[in-house]
Amino acid sequence: MKTVTSIKQFRQIRKTLGTSKLGFVPTMGALHQGHISLLERSVGECDVTVLSIFLNPTQFNNPDDLKTYPITLQEDLEKAAQAGVDVVLLPEYDEIYSDNFRFQVNENNFSKQLCGAHRDGHFTGVLTIVMKLLNIVKAEKAYFGEKDYQQFQLIKDMADAFFIDAEIVGCETIREADGLAMSSRNTHLKDEARALAPVLHRLISEEASDDTVAHQLKGYGFEVDYIKTIAGRRYAAAILGQVRLIDNIRLRQ
Ligand code: PAF
Repeated sequence: MKTVTSIKQFRQIRKTLGTSKLGFVPTMGALHQGHISLLERSVGECDVTVLSIFLNPTQFNNPDDLKTYPITLQEDLEKAAQAGVDVVLLPEYDEIYSDNFRFQVNENNFSKQLCGAHRDGHFTGVLTIVMKLLNIVKAEKAYFGEKDYQQFQLIKDMADAFFIDAEIVGCETIREADGLAMSSRNTHLKDEARALAPVLHRLISEEASDDTVAHQLKGYGFEVDYIKTIAGRRYAAAILGQVRLIDNIRLRQ
């Protein structure tokens, strides 16, 4: 497994790969089983798998969230090697944002709803970094977890709108045995909050209205950002013990 920090150097390596089918998994590190499932899918479907690890500051609206985001690079590299990754790209801020974030990808509709309504500028940061990474890596397939379904949908729409060649592949949410969607931020949950956290998935899976689910969650002590059904998918975000949890499920027709 090769590890590359320079984008220039990555581009040299990319040239040597010719027409191999390249799969790409962009991450911010702190890899968990959800990320591993994306890597394994890429390894199974493609000739070469590239993983990127970049804690992207432009998508954090809350400086404390950025400061406390878990960083576990050594473990991440071991997990990546075990999953069969070929190249890890670890870009540096000054190179990937050599424009100083002067150029940005903005979406003016769906990105303003749900998480976008609660995290100012978040999706502009996400779409901008993903656009940069897709242009650098030039993958045939790029894999994203459906836990962040709004993010996945926006990236897919962006790729269509800008005629990006990569196929944007959504992969099923990986859950703990008790139903909690895996997330790098789950490590911040203290024991009591961790025990309560699966209630989010349980309640959004029940056949009750969005308002009823929100009301029940508040009863358990969650601070609810939103519970909202759009086009047959129920999206949820709620804060528990200072940790913001998000989840979504496809509702039965
Ligand atoms: O889902 C994430 O980890 C990030 O939003 C992504 C897609 C890697 C962009 O920084």
